[in-house]
Amino acid sequence: MLDLSDRFVVPPAPAVELRAFTHGLMPRTVPDLMAGFCQDWAERGVDAWNRVPDRWGLGHETGWWALPTDLADAWVAPLLSAPAGSCILQPNVFTTVQALLSCDGPFESRTEVVMTEGEFPSVRHPVQRWQGLRDLRPVDVPARPDGRVDLDAVADAITDQTAWVFVSHVGFATGEVLPTADLRRLADVAHRHGALFAVDGYHATASIPVDVEACGADMYFGGLLKEACGSSGNAYLYVRPGLDLRPRLSGWFGDADPFGFEPAPADHPEVRRRFLGGTTAVASMYHAVEGVRVLLDAGLDAVRADTLAKGARALDRADALGIPVRSPREDERRGAMIVLEVEHADRMVRWLKTRDVFVDARRGALVRFAPFVWNPAQDVDRLFDALGEALASGAHLALAPAAEGGPVT
Ligand SMILES: Cc1ncc(COP(=O)(O)O)c(C=O)c1O
Repeated sequence: MLDLSDRFVVPPAPAVELRAFTHGLMPRTVPDLMAGFCQDWAERGVDAWNRVPDRWGLGHETGWWALPTDLADAWVAPLLSAPAGSCILQPNVFTTVQALLSCDGPFESRTEVVMTEGEFPSVRHPVQRWQGLRDLRPVDVPARPDGRVDLDAVADAITDQTAWVFVSHVGFATGEVLPTADLRRLADVAHRHGALFAVDGYHATASIPVDVEACGADMYFGGLLKEACGSSGNAYLYVRPGLDLRPRLSGWFGDADPFGFEPAPADHPEVRRRFLGGTTAVASMYHAVEGVRVLLDAGLDAVRADTLAKGARALDRADALGIPVRSPREDERRGAMIVLEVEHADRMVRWLKTRDVFVDARRGALVRFAPFVWNPAQDVDRLFDALGEALASGAHLALAPAAEGGPVT
């Protein structure tokens, strides 16, 4: 099993942090990088947009202007086995999906957008809101009774009217991984019907080796905040080379001639750059790829093997306590996140906090956790020892159900 705890700022013992799927821990190098941002701003001022020292291991000088593409080429493309020139940083998934839906081409003679019930709101909500803005009809595909993606139903929902198909590589509520062959199957069906295939890869990013071409993705997007340990403001987009998308929601940073300040917009020759809006948030890009660097150093195959090994230990302990497991058990379909069915999950999570074990709850019925690269195997045991104690004594039931101190568990 991996132990990368020396590469991150891990909360001091006895705390056990098991929420990599919500917000990754801070890599140790981040404070120096943020000091670097202050230094570049102080010493170079406006000229930092043109040139700053290479603080990211790019192997060449860069500038704030070029960071969204330079960082994506150097650090996002390797996560996705994507070719240079196909990826770009984005502020978040929501903005990316808005820009994607604003492209007229895919909707020229089509109206339907197929998405699974389990897509994250940053996909589901924009698709529904766009109904009134263009002739768009969301086609919702319900999950199977066990919560998993119904692949046959997704395939059956795709027709000659489908413009886009959205699926998640790893379900945010189920932890279900769709193996490459499953993604490919859906991509092939979409392409046979002339539709485009988009994958939300947020929870696969930096925790599972991804091959966007093998998946058949036309667009693949995600963020670096969670398992990739890059914090907020750092998402990304891959666009299949050769796909000529023209987002209407393209800002002046994505214009063909941004410093011409022309009265009318013009599409940038690089498709990925058209997905930029207004001025990019530079500070967040200083810490964007530090977690990625750590995880790529270890190797994504090793990261994946590690999460599977620690997850297997968790499944054994859950079975021994008789706690139903909601996430898939098979290695091929299991991500870093394990989901347990626990009555009064909110209270359980609050009680576990009193034992310095940090996991989260969903809908009062599910407990989610992910033993990740900074967790020794004993952290899994700490969690299950505490769960077992609470289930036996009912101690957690004495706590109020509402979360204390804020909405995030
Ligand atoms: C699958 C998935 N997509 C997207 C997001 C976040 O989207 P955004 O970057 O718009 O906040 C999350 C956050 O939990 C997620 O789990």
